[in-house]
Amino acid sequence: MTTQIKSLQEYKDTYKYSVESPKAFWKEQAETFTWKKPFEQVLQWNFDEPNVKWFTGGKLNITENCLDRHIETRGDQVAILWEPNEPDSPAKTFTYKELLAAVSKCANALKANGIQKGDRVVFYMPMVPELAIGVLACARIGAVHSVVFAGFSAQALADRVNDATAKMIICSDFNKRGAKNIPIKTVVDDAIKLGCPSIETVLVHKNTGDSIEWSGVDKWWHEQVDPQSADCPAEEMDSEDMLFILYTSGSTGKPKGVVHTCGGYMVYTCYSFRNVFQYQDGDIYWCTADIGWITGHSYIVYGPLLAGATTVMSEGVPTYPDPGRFWEICEKHKVNQFYTAPTAIRALMAKGDEWPAKYDLSSLKLLGSVGEPINEEAWHWYDKHIGKSKAPIVDTWWQTETGGIMITPLPGITDTKPTYASYPMPGIQAILVDKEGNELTGNDVEGLLCIKFPWPSMIRTTYGDHSRCKNVYFSAFKDLYFTGDGARKDEEGRIRVIGRVDDVINVSGHRMGTAEVENAINEHPNVVESAVVGYPHEIKGQGIYAYVITQDKELGDDFRQEILDVVKREIGPIAKPDKIQFVTGLPKTRSGKIMRRILRKIASKDSSNLGDISTLLNPEVVEAVKDGALV
Ligand code: PRX
Repeated sequence: MTTQIKSLQEYKDTYKYSVESPKAFWKEQAETFTWKKPFEQVLQWNFDEPNVKWFTGGKLNITENCLDRHIETRGDQVAILWEPNEPDSPAKTFTYKELLAAVSKCANALKANGIQKGDRVVFYMPMVPELAIGVLACARIGAVHSVVFAGFSAQALADRVNDATAKMIICSDFNKRGAKNIPIKTVVDDAIKLGCPSIETVLVHKNTGDSIEWSGVDKWWHEQVDPQSADCPAEEMDSEDMLFILYTSGSTGKPKGVVHTCGGYMVYTCYSFRNVFQYQDGDIYWCTADIGWITGHSYIVYGPLLAGATTVMSEGVPTYPDPGRFWEICEKHKVNQFYTAPTAIRALMAKGDEWPAKYDLSSLKLLGSVGEPINEEAWHWYDKHIGKSKAPIVDTWWQTETGGIMITPLPGITDTKPTYASYPMPGIQAILVDKEGNELTGNDVEGLLCIKFPWPSMIRTTYGDHSRCKNVYFSAFKDLYFTGDGARKDEEGRIRVIGRVDDVINVSGHRMGTAEVENAINEHPNVVESAVVGYPHEIKGQGIYAYVITQDKELGDDFRQEILDVVKREIGPIAKPDKIQFVTGLPKTRSGKIMRRILRKIASKDSSNLGDISTLLNPEVVEAVKDGALV
């Protein structure tokens, strides 16, 4: 059994085998890793509870597989190539040997500060190497990491820290983003002031050295980590022990902690990395995501390191110092595989073709896209101006919950078609169903995207609330994992993921629950009620459109700003509505439910056919909302 598919026939044969004999297929893949104790059973599962266990009885440590096992063969190869925010500052490299030493030192520092196996550690950091090192250090000692994207507010950070009852926060002093130097330790201070009773230590990495406030729980990273021994034995973990929690938005107000475990996540992220990116020894691979999201976990840190790759990590933003930055980095480091989000492609496309034209992009062998549907125009621009029509585009569909890429072309192996994520990975039994859960067999169909058999990196639970996991993903349809996405299959069976069918919107590739944003808006004392929907946005994919009912009639720009401020305070700048429409009523059903379908149509300037509104409690408000719609 090969770990890297090389031809269309091999893909077809492997896929067939993986569906007919999934246990045998995954057993062979799993056996290519280093286990401290071999697993006894490949898979035990039911989707009712749900209860899914992969490689049971197996003992391992994922960092041994990411680091130690590569030392003999590629100890001096660069593991992480870090490109700083400032283009004039030199890139920093960590060979596999150096990375193992850095991770071990950090792991020893965590232990010295009372962190034990099973404890939760929250990260709130910019894209500095210490973030990857810290995450791996947790995995080294069996602590559970939970990375919170450093754009979230103090309130959002505190909510996540408290849900995870974390013992430690690891942060930086400042976050360099383009020309900005954003204080982030102060956000941690504010979170602690809001109340994070489980936090014993805040470990602070000095990124800029600008002045910050200091309190009793704070300790400097360099003082704690630097003196430690560079040798730290890897904790023996059960295959099903928790590896990390990553919070993501759902259709209710409260973010959910998606739980991934050690063995299955390891096997699937490595397998998918090798196949989707067709990584060859010596290649330079770059994923531009932030480690605050699942893409960064699986395809900056774990997947590439498990596969012994050289993974680029970049601190800056795509438009600093100018919109050629991405392409400059590709040229400078001779990047072979480049993986980014449609929103970045669209934003850079809008800056003009002259930016990529300035750089030699001939090293690029493949391009990747992730996070949201990629529109045709962006797909063609990416293909022509970046890939010079010779680098296949892999439009990868997956989710925080799936842990790894699920539906994707394999570059040079399966064909590509703009806007289509195409075919499922081996082991992934993706199907479309109708509203009743009946499988839509055959091609040229449209329905709800479900997965009908477990895969190793699937969500195990939502932290602290297993029933939520069951309700959200496994209760819609019997014996199916429901993705929350709608999709279509073309005549040849290629899958195109159209978008969410629940109350989740995808803003610049980031998931945002409408209820979360509404809760934030409703915190404003003058707001009576609000409803939030997504609408098509040229750069972001979807923008946030908020309908707000207020107490006072006199509403100026100040009030609009106050609403933006309250959202920024409660969630973070990423959740700020793009449009706010003040309304006197919201269309509701007789049972009091807001008819979002109507609001979505009005927000999308598609109000000619609103469907049947006769069942509404208050059909008259529809006209008023329509009349006041924003242009
Ligand atoms: O709606 C799908 C969309 O992003 C959702 C998952 O969001 P998140 O968990 O934040 O993970 C993003 C990175 C993996 C999905 O339910 N999505 C993701 N990739 C694609 C996509 N929609 C269309 N095409 C994609 N390639």
